[in-house]
Amino acid sequence: MAEADVPEVPIYDIPARLQGKGTGNHVRHLPHVTPESYAKDHKQSIEDADAFFAKAAREVIDWDVPFKTVRSGGFVDGDVAWFTEGQLNATYNCVDRWATKFPDRVAIIYEADEPDQHQEITYSELQRRVSQAANMLKKLGVKKGDTVIVYLPMIPEAAVALLACARIGAVHSVVFAGFSADSLRDRTLDCEARVVITTDEGRRGGRTIATKSIVDAALKECPKVEHVVVVKRTGNEVGWTEGRDIWWHEAAKKERAYCPPVSMNSEDPLFILYTSGSTGKPKGVVHTTAGYLLGTALTTKHVFDVHADKGDKYACMADIGWITGHSYIVYGPLMNGVTTLIFESTPVYPSPSRYWEMVDKHKLTQFYTAPTSIRLLRRLGEEHVQKHDLSSLRVIGSVGEPINPEAWNWYNENVGRKECAIVDTYWMTEGGSIMITPLPGATKTKPGSATMPFWGIHPVILDPQSGEELQGNNVEGVLAIKNPWPSVARTIYGDHERFLETYMRAYKGYFFTGDGAARDKDGYIWIKGRVDDVINVSGHRLSTAEIESALIQHPGVAETAVVGIADEMTGQTIAAYVTLKPEFSYDSEEALVKELVIQVRRHIGPFAAPKKVIVVNDLPKTRSGKIMRRLLRKCASHETDSLGDLSSLADPSIIDHIKEKTEAFDAKK
Ligand code: WTA
Repeated sequence: MAEADVPEVPIYDIPARLQGKGTGNHVRHLPHVTPESYAKDHKQSIEDADAFFAKAAREVIDWDVPFKTVRSGGFVDGDVAWFTEGQLNATYNCVDRWATKFPDRVAIIYEADEPDQHQEITYSELQRRVSQAANMLKKLGVKKGDTVIVYLPMIPEAAVALLACARIGAVHSVVFAGFSADSLRDRTLDCEARVVITTDEGRRGGRTIATKSIVDAALKECPKVEHVVVVKRTGNEVGWTEGRDIWWHEAAKKERAYCPPVSMNSEDPLFILYTSGSTGKPKGVVHTTAGYLLGTALTTKHVFDVHADKGDKYACMADIGWITGHSYIVYGPLMNGVTTLIFESTPVYPSPSRYWEMVDKHKLTQFYTAPTSIRLLRRLGEEHVQKHDLSSLRVIGSVGEPINPEAWNWYNENVGRKECAIVDTYWMTEGGSIMITPLPGATKTKPGSATMPFWGIHPVILDPQSGEELQGNNVEGVLAIKNPWPSVARTIYGDHERFLETYMRAYKGYFFTGDGAARDKDGYIWIKGRVDDVINVSGHRLSTAEIESALIQHPGVAETAVVGIADEMTGQTIAAYVTLKPEFSYDSEEALVKELVIQVRRHIGPFAAPKKVIVVNDLPKTRSGKIMRRLLRKCASHETDSLGDLSSLADPSIIDHIKEKTEAFDAKK
């Protein structure tokens, strides 16, 4: 049994601002959760989940038809269902009920790429925009249950599009606007969409992104797509297919300002979101309506201690193309009737002060970003943070990858000024909402640890070999969850068998997260990173197989193996080893390597570009032909003193060759 291998760090008390004290001009009020209420509620959420979540669901959701059964099914058969018989509409819950009560409250702050171009959209304005967009989709023939692809940059229409789909019962599938035409094509085909929503172009960090032309290229091989709705963002000339393409602004303005929301069953799908797994084919993770909304609503309220009635302004820096954007820019905040921010730019445009200028300008109360941005800003220097008044902040969050204690401390000292709660939130696309996290006001924190489970989450550390639960503290193994929680994904679109295989059969009866984890001597949970073939680069989730299948399509490549290696700034980076077909001739290896990087950028997207592509004579294989990635990982990160047992290698001499080629590659960089 492995003991917990975690750093020795201090434990921090609940910060002043979360005890209704502290300096600055923040609103002084007590947090929703205290240490006592957390312990009591967590216990009930596990031991009497039905009572706990029935009450929560009645409080948080406005139902058209009340549910009867709270929970059914489980992880043994992979047939989890929550709030069956209940009916509701997501958009009604996110928009209409607030538009009625507080029509003039700001729902969305749009912080455009250029800092001087921000806009505010009230709840009543959002209701009108969503209704018109929903009516527009209906006119295009979109019906309940149809899938709509959303390929949009970070503009208000991204949120409007999601809510418009949900209003009429259509299932949205957002494809991150950094994905290439090939990736967009594969996802559009897989979910059988007939309508795609995009922009003429996007703007990010002062640069233009050719979204419409990527859509045009993708749709060459998607004959089922009948319409492309185009939001005008830059107004530059773009290609146009008559009869298929329509301008959003022209079509929407013709529509009525109200569209009745359709009552959906609790278990009707709300969206499909593709994510990487351990094979080359991305998985369309399916989330359903009621459980997902409950999970995002509860976590937003309690993890970020959001008080909509106190005028909180909440900001999450993720992209809407990933689960964090779905849950913590759109659904979670709007379910709470709070103001949410849509940020189009980057942390360093036009300067590394951008985030903090924004906090100061809008007096943001919660701020949620990824460790990779924190590490980048830390490197660029404190002075960019220090010159801004950040005293409006109460809770600052981190998500997407483990945050190292140095970055945590920097965030705490410079951004939180040691007065804010820091929430290192652990979860995943398949989880729907935050699973392991401190709660401001309730949890003492340790830099680098995601700390404690949220309500309904019963985490267990399993021995990876035997699958046995490791009892007590000071243990390390793989992380699984013992019981279904409301927002857990229900299936993989079109492949329920793969869903069962991946999550429910790896350790029978448990939901397997794919991560390694430790429970330390105090019972705190530390996430140790993926134990499967998923790599995490700057919080972007990629599979080695996906990158390998991009590389193998190059005419010269015979075989390839991709590994993730540790990186100080981005968490991990990608290293690809390739062998070439004997008949393939080329002029220079350098030019070929560039071509291979382009191959990955074109096939997946620029964010997936390998940092190292190393051409070798052969890959390290066992006698039965299995590639020994462990050795490649060691070679790629120059840890060749600890290669371990090489006796199972078919040709041990290959290691020296791979070492040399890696060193030569890195020397050139
Ligand atoms: C990793 C993002 C450590 C983890 C919400 C997980 C984290 C994967 C944390 C899911 C965290 C996410 N600490 N690791 N706070 N948050 N991860 O699906 O490996 O894009 O399995 O969801 O990110 O990535 P995904």
